[in-house]
Amino acid sequence: MPTQDTATSYGSISRFNHWLGALLVLVLLAIGLYFEDMPRGDVKKFWKGLHIAIGAFAALFFLWRVYWRMRSTSPRELPQPRALTLLSKTVHVLLLVGITVLALTGPLSIWATGRGIPVMGLFSIPSPFPEFRSLHGPLEDIHAFAADAMLYLIGLHILGVIKHQLVDRDNILKRMAGRA
Ligand code: HEM
Ligand code: HEM
Repeated sequence: MPTQDTATSYGSISRFNHWLGALLVLVLLAIGLYFEDMPRGDVKKFWKGLHIAIGAFAALFFLWRVYWRMRSTSPRELPQPRALTLLSKTVHVLLLVGITVLALTGPLSIWATGRGIPVMGLFSIPSPFPEFRSLHGPLEDIHAFAADAMLYLIGLHILGVIKHQLVDRDNILKRMAGRA
């Protein structure tokens, strides 16, 4: 399977990026939504710590994944009415914007407090910036907003895949999961 994308197929790097990225987004979203409304305490601390530890590594991967998509030729959209093509392209772009915003606001909201990013009590990734407490709250709010938006975008994205797969029967999943 070629590593690069072509006008008709995703290469192996884009496929790997898509599925590892999707898994990480879904895991981080699930953990974030789980601890979001918990009362303060050890249980919340554990899940938040896990979210941050996975997020610290996922953030670098997300930035690489978006960079790779930007420098690759995307395969042509599968045939469908123009409005749906536009919707599908918009959802893809917003998903990529969403993971970029989450990958940036997560670490920055912690560093704004002057602390390092704790990785399960094993080590901490120190802040490259001086403390900037007034940005902590707004960065957290943007992070929570972007996470909520991802829920709807992922929902739309999966509905689109189901529509292609079952109604158009164009086997869109094979472009991302089957043989090139
Ligand atoms: C787990 C369920 C998912 C399935 C079955 C799925 C399936 C697909 C398929 C078949 C494509 C190719 C579309 C085409 O050929 O035009 C695609 C593209 C894409 N998907 Fe997903 N996807 C899933 C989850 C996600 C998640 C959670 C994200 C969030 C980041 C995501 C982001 C994208 C993006 C940005 C593209 C455009 C191509 C790229 O940059 O990789 N997907 N998806
Ligand atoms: C796709 C990636 C991510 C998703 C979907 C996501 C999702 C979420 C959600 C749903 C919450 C709960 C929001 C709330 O408290 O109101 C949250 C909180 C948080 N996330 Fe993420 N997150 C992601 C990436 C990251 C990364 C990369 C980091 C940094 C290492 C991070 C650090 C945090 C922190 C510190 C909080 C707690 C904020 C607070 O106490 O309110 N997240 N995240």
